[in-house]
Amino acid sequence: MAERILVTAALPYANGQIHLGHLAGAYLPSDIYVRFQRLKGREVVFICGSDEHGVPITLTADKEGITPQAVVDRYHAMNKAAFEKFGMSFDNYSRTSLPLHHRTALEFFLDFHKRGILKEKKEQQFFDPKANMFLPDRYVEGTCPVCSNPEARGDQCERCGSYLNPTELINPKSKISGEVPVLRETSHLYFPLGEYQKKLESYIDIRNKRDRWKDNVLKYCQSWFKDGLQDRAVTRDLDWGVKIPLPGYESKVLYVWFDAVLGYISSTKEWSERTGKPDEWKKFWQDESTKYVAFIGKDNVVFHCIVFPAMLMAWNETHQQKYVLPENVPANEFLNFEGQKFSKSRGIGIDVQDFLERFPADPLRYYLASSLPEYRDSDFYWRDFQAKNNNELADILGNFVNRTLAFAGKTFNGVVPERGDITSLDRTILDALNATPTAAQKCFEEYRFRDALLEIMNLARAANKYFNDSEPWKTAKSDASRCATTINVSIQVARSLAVLMFPFVPSSCEKIWRMLALEGKAAEQSWDSAGSAVIPPGHKLGTTEILFTKIEDDVIEQAIRETTNQQPAPSATPKQVEEKPSITIDDFKKVELRVAKILECEPVPKSEKLLKLQVEVGTERRQIVAGIAKHYKPEDLIGKSVVVVYNLQPAKLMGQESKGMILAASSDDDGKLFVVSPLGEIASGSVVR
Ligand code: MF3
Ligand code: ZN
Repeated sequence: MAERILVTAALPYANGQIHLGHLAGAYLPSDIYVRFQRLKGREVVFICGSDEHGVPITLTADKEGITPQAVVDRYHAMNKAAFEKFGMSFDNYSRTSLPLHHRTALEFFLDFHKRGILKEKKEQQFFDPKANMFLPDRYVEGTCPVCSNPEARGDQCERCGSYLNPTELINPKSKISGEVPVLRETSHLYFPLGEYQKKLESYIDIRNKRDRWKDNVLKYCQSWFKDGLQDRAVTRDLDWGVKIPLPGYESKVLYVWFDAVLGYISSTKEWSERTGKPDEWKKFWQDESTKYVAFIGKDNVVFHCIVFPAMLMAWNETHQQKYVLPENVPANEFLNFEGQKFSKSRGIGIDVQDFLERFPADPLRYYLASSLPEYRDSDFYWRDFQAKNNNELADILGNFVNRTLAFAGKTFNGVVPERGDITSLDRTILDALNATPTAAQKCFEEYRFRDALLEIMNLARAANKYFNDSEPWKTAKSDASRCATTINVSIQVARSLAVLMFPFVPSSCEKIWRMLALEGKAAEQSWDSAGSAVIPPGHKLGTTEILFTKIEDDVIEQAIRETTNQQPAPSATPKQVEEKPSITIDDFKKVELRVAKILECEPVPKSEKLLKLQVEVGTERRQIVAGIAKHYKPEDLIGKSVVVVYNLQPAKLMGQESKGMILAASSDDDGKLFVVSPLGEIASGSVVR
């Protein structure tokens, strides 16, 4: 594992406010990764900034009648502030409208031009005679030639995902004047991406072998390679962007993606200058021992895995100072919002600023981390957010830390008691404490942040169980040294959790740190120290603070109304279910539960609720009637394995014989019902116990 790591997160367009989807795609994962690496003592620089060029920005400016600079000034400031509030620990957050960036981008472009790498091509392009300008990319809209979507944009059809050329659109219209554009000749410079295909394929192959790339990312790359890489125009007829100082190119700028990816380099240069070490950026970009990891969302894969590496390769061909290429590009899929796509125009979703005015950052970080779209799209649901906050952050992590410190305060005057003899109960939790940093580390290094979080929360779960099972409130009276040991061990675990959870919920971990009154900050600790019990007895603890506040139903319901245009469904928390008296194992053994395989299934005539099933239980076939027709269609069930009460007395339902009962979980509150099914493949007839 490299000791010096360069981490970049995609530069968001300064053309709108970032929303939760952005956080789950590139930003939270990169911040988790960086915070982990810093705790590991690695030399990290974490780079981001605003992407301030491109047609969407000039379109916004045109629409609002202001300059593009005014647009990007507004959103740069907003997004920078939102990131800070969310707890992004960027070392630098730059902007691509800065002269330093323009110089950097031109250095690459002019080098390629001078070396004859770029090819000039003359072509026919749309021109708006009324607005007297060329219409690149999204300046033209029309009907998609692939799926007939009437609102396809010049660069891409949002409906079918096809990448387009404006001239391919049917019924093209200018976004500026609404006029039908005319074709006019113009010249552009092209980067010969095709010439780099072989090298790119082997580059990805080598990196994938060293630092396993995610399957979703590899798949995108392979499909680009399969189609064959094409020359790409790197100039545009626009006046907002990086101006090109070449004769004949006075009214052109660099294509936004050509300059944007170089924004990572200029942002690192800015950081270097700002911190008084003007050459420091080179250590990260031009020393081959640096590990470079680029975090992005899936829509950016081609630019980061293909275009940017090809540009760096082209530079590296003739220069002494060679740039490092991404070692990995751990792109995430998308986050949806309450089952739908984020859509500003339809009022679906919530931007980060708005969210953080309602709730603190840590619960959001925790919830998003637990449901990151790491392998496939995932969803944000307000009710899940509430449940994760209340049942996990507050009830598991918060509860453990608070009860430990409250107990230490009350019983030991807030001083860490001595650790006496270790019992097997203590041993179990100390072993878990010992194992968790290593287990979680493996997950972080493989970009599996959900799994890392699970590992660490399992330690918190085990810690609560340890506290319960040790019953210090009893041993306080009966066995003082046992009680002291329990509390000593619990305090050690609380410290470890403050370090281990730091990548996910940094402000809460600093709070725990203050409550423990330990020196320095949680951020300054070493990851590995979380594997040992390091607080000496006699250490004076601080005062307890509230770590996590529970979120009430009405607050969540208001959020649902305001961000989804829907009326919230009633709360899904199950009602108190009547508790039955306990039974002995022999009582339980009277019930014979078996796995059954559903062979046939059909509705029961004249019944809305009943389905008639033919099931196989081992070598036997029998008929069962179940009240699940409102929840399942027959075809959903055929072939599935379920659990049946095998020895239930036969009965007749609506005239149909039923031998046995299918187990299902149901909730009275929201009427949900799910049939119970074994988690793996198992033969029918198998006994369930
Ligand atoms: N602005 C782009 C987006 O939001 C991302 C640019 S990433 C960079 O999709 F590498 F080009 F900067
Ligand atoms: Zn389409």
